[in-house]
Amino acid sequence: MRGPGIALLVCYLPPMFDLHVFVCTNRKEEGKISCAPQGGEAICEEMKKLSKSTPELRAKKIRVNKSGCLGICEEGPNIVVYPEGTWYTGVKQEDVKEIVTSHLQNGVVVERIKRKPPVPGVPPAPKT
Ligand code: FES
Repeated sequence: MRGPGIALLVCYLPPMFDLHVFVCTNRKEEGKISCAPQGGEAICEEMKKLSKSTPELRAKKIRVNKSGCLGICEEGPNIVVYPEGTWYTGVKQEDVKEIVTSHLQNGVVVERIKRKPPVPGVPPAPKT
């Protein structure tokens, strides 16, 4: 009988953060694609640093965490921003400042690197 009560309590807890950013820093065994060898760790460190770089950003409750595999390794390096669940794929180090300024600070998603839903029958675009 405790289960439903706990579930209700969890549902009504306020969110811990205004924005919670997960940056995949997973490293798989040699020969398998993963985010760390493609720059995931450096991207995460830059994201952490820049997310506290202005008074506007420091006024928000933003948490940047390293994450394990997010399940779409071939599209990496990958980032997901909650609570809305915006995914960024193929992120490069030079994209981090734009994500922080546009999305985290001003609430405008960076459409050019936002993950698009797959179209049935159409193969994904090759990485550039
Ligand atoms: S290793 Fe990053 S999504 Fe799998």
